[in-house]
Amino acid sequence: MDLDQRVAIVTGAGIGLGKAIAIKLAAQGARVALWDMNMALVEKLAAEIDPKGERAAPFQVNVTKEPEVVKAAGATIEKFGHVDILVNNAGITRHKILEETTVELFEQVITVNLTGLFICCKAVAPLMKRQHYGKIVNIASLAARTGRPGVGVNYAASKGGVLGVTKCLAKELGPDNIYVNAICPGPILTDQTRQYSREVFDSWNAGRAVPKDGYPEDVGDAVVFLASSKSDWITGVTLDVNGGIFIG
Ligand SMILES: NC(=O)c1ccc[n+]([C@@H]2O[C@H](COP(=O)([O-])OP(=O)(O)OC[C@H]3O[C@@H](n4cnc5c(N)ncnc54)[C@H](O)[C@@H]3O)[C@@H](O)[C@H]2O)c1
Repeated sequence: MDLDQRVAIVTGAGIGLGKAIAIKLAAQGARVALWDMNMALVEKLAAEIDPKGERAAPFQVNVTKEPEVVKAAGATIEKFGHVDILVNNAGITRHKILEETTVELFEQVITVNLTGLFICCKAVAPLMKRQHYGKIVNIASLAARTGRPGVGVNYAASKGGVLGVTKCLAKELGPDNIYVNAICPGPILTDQTRQYSREVFDSWNAGRAVPKDGYPEDVGDAVVFLASSKSDWITGVTLDVNGGIFIG
């Protein structure tokens, strides 16, 4: 791919999908700004990607706090000069059945997964407009496509919202040569999902077309494609990365 001159922000880069996405982008030559609430995790990852600190840098930022996001965007520009790619990956789940989902719990997930993504787009898109180029990749979920059980209405609603934001921004930012797409990963084997039994994980994969588990790197490869010029006629789409659990 052609990411040599590119600078990418990855939110929630500390572990799981975000970490794999950052490593994949860096492997294609991008310089990566690693944004996460957990500074220790992104410091460690930055050192792994580039011990010299030239091609990867950690930034402590809570995506739900607009001043922190604006500050981190400025610090990223200061470090790398420009921003070409924004991967909105930071997200949480707080699963309860409907009756046990309080308004607070509903809003908590919406605030991180949807409002946080909106805040990051709002802070970074003007930087992309200035250079008349950008790629935004939003990490949604299979839950937005199928209402997958076991994740909760708060999570499914937040990820459905992400798809709406993606389509709206694709139209709004397209004239500025900014591409906005979403990825809907199915169940991915991460440290977090490995805490569930194999039986539970398999139940999430019911109906899968191909006999292969999903790994963070599968999502990373899809992000690299949507972040590269190989996808320059693609905007506003949802790319399902789920082994064929859902074929829409
Ligand atoms: N793991 C899966 O199976 C799966 C499937 C579909 C979609 N997703 C989505 O992929 C994304 C990553 O999931 P994951 O499983 O790797 O999650 P994870 O919990 O393993 O990692 C999330 C990272 O985001 C950071 N983070 C959380 N809230 C933040 C905030 N407010 N500001 C900044 N950073 C914050 C955490 O510190 C952590 O490093 C999420 O958006 C999730 O909804 C995951």
